[in-house]
Amino acid sequence: MKHKFRQNTANEGFSHSSVAGKIKRTRTFLSGLFICSFLFIFFISPKINAGSLFENQNVNNKNDSLKHYRSFKPGEEWYDTDGKIINAHGGGMLYYNKTYYWFGETRGRSASQGVSVYSSKDLYNWKNQGLALAHDADSSSDITTGSIIERPKVIYNKNTKQFVMWFHLELKGKGYSAARAGVAVSNKPTGPYKFLKSFRPNGNMSRDMTVYVDDKGMAYQIYSSRENYDMRIVELTPDYLSPTTKDSLISSDHREAPAIFQHDKKYFLVTSACTGWAPNAANLYVSKSLFGNWQDTGNPMLGKDANITFYAQSAYIFPVAGKKDAFIFMADKWNPKNLTDSRYIWLPVEFKNAKPYIEWKDEWDLNYFHKQ
Ligand code: GAL
Repeated sequence: MKHKFRQNTANEGFSHSSVAGKIKRTRTFLSGLFICSFLFIFFISPKINAGSLFENQNVNNKNDSLKHYRSFKPGEEWYDTDGKIINAHGGGMLYYNKTYYWFGETRGRSASQGVSVYSSKDLYNWKNQGLALAHDADSSSDITTGSIIERPKVIYNKNTKQFVMWFHLELKGKGYSAARAGVAVSNKPTGPYKFLKSFRPNGNMSRDMTVYVDDKGMAYQIYSSRENYDMRIVELTPDYLSPTTKDSLISSDHREAPAIFQHDKKYFLVTSACTGWAPNAANLYVSKSLFGNWQDTGNPMLGKDANITFYAQSAYIFPVAGKKDAFIFMADKWNPKNLTDSRYIWLPVEFKNAKPYIEWKDEWDLNYFHKQ
């Protein structure tokens, strides 16, 4: 009995500890289940609802390309505020109503696809405003699909309140032989621009070009002429829509890609040599008057690869609003195998003894202008 009792006691003792163990294991299991459900409800389930885990990673990756820029990195890929690569080559800049508008050639791998326009308040982050000027499906139009639109520039006429776009136009199927200037207008900076006409100014060939408005509100077209051997300047009519006959030679040095600015009562004109998409050495002409005499002062580029303009070609030079002596040089690092992926080289124009120079920088921001 004793034994039995002891046995029973032992059995009873065994059965107590087994119940306690079961309760403990059940508690552990329940708390584990609770933690798992918590993790599932709050972390895993939302991802499954949003699609697969893999898809959701892609969404995150896509968001990663929506960068907010605080500096310029010349030659690197530059994305707009939708996360798409900026497609605005051979461009120009318009500053209107506290906003910058960047116009440029929209390019496919090689095709001309019209003129794009992007807007920005800070010069780093650009919103795509769509096509400012589209090719025309009508085959009788000078700008029919298949024609080539290059180096678009837009100026604002305060009297007519019109935005006037000038560009280099080559007619469809004629290579670069037409050598014309084209003009289009809009009542809004972003367009759409209405094509008006194309022509050779005063009968002169007109390829790479820019337009410029002086302090008095007179406008000028500066253009490569006579198979690019001549660089010319022509004064425009007060509405900015046509050339006048005040048209004169700047130089006969076989130059193109003109980019002009004024500083300290002098005009400065950067141009490139004529080697197609391949980079070459820039030069800088200086003159006290737009109609000459223009002096060639040599290559204004400094630093690594200055002799080939850092693998780029001049497009435009513009003053930074609200900053003194602050100008930005815009150039194109052309990629002839895929023109869409041609990169932008933006660098500050600096001055030494009142003479401008442009020096390579891997990265810079607008504060740079205060440090000069
Ligand atoms: C360059 C010119 C570019 C483009 C290219 C075509 O000389 O600057 O704007 O016309 O030729 O090959």
